[in-house]
Amino acid sequence: MTASRLLTIITVCIAATAPGATATIKGWHPIKDINDPHIQELGHWAVSKTNKVTPSIPLTFSKVTSGEEHYQFLTTEYLLHINASIYGVIHSYTAVLIEEVSKKRTLLSFK
Ligand SMILES: *[C@@H]1O[C@H](CO)[C@@H](O)[C@H](O)[C@H]1NC(C)=O
Repeated sequence: MTASRLLTIITVCIAATAPGATATIKGWHPIKDINDPHIQELGHWAVSKTNKVTPSIPLTFSKVTSGEEHYQFLTTEYLLHINASIYGVIHSYTAVLIEEVSKKRTLLSFK
């Protein structure tokens, strides 16, 4: 790797972590219509999936409150802020998931 190429990578990393950069990181867009049934369904799916992995803490899906999406060639990555309740008490979670054009979904993280 040349020095100038390395410098380019470093510059891009700094730009991406600069304050207020969330909306400007290339490819990521805020989800405009958070009430879109597909977006709400993805949040519901992420909660169901999490419940299967950790059934000891049953979460009840409430709603997706905000999020961002990143379109790629054959996949879309979503970062969703989800409200879900445990025994009636609402907590906020962040889920990262990928949906392929084939509709196959992968949950990358939920916390
Ligand atoms: C989501 O949950 C948080 C924490 O309980 C709460 O403050 C917020 O009002 C909730 N948002 C919606 C849209 O329900």
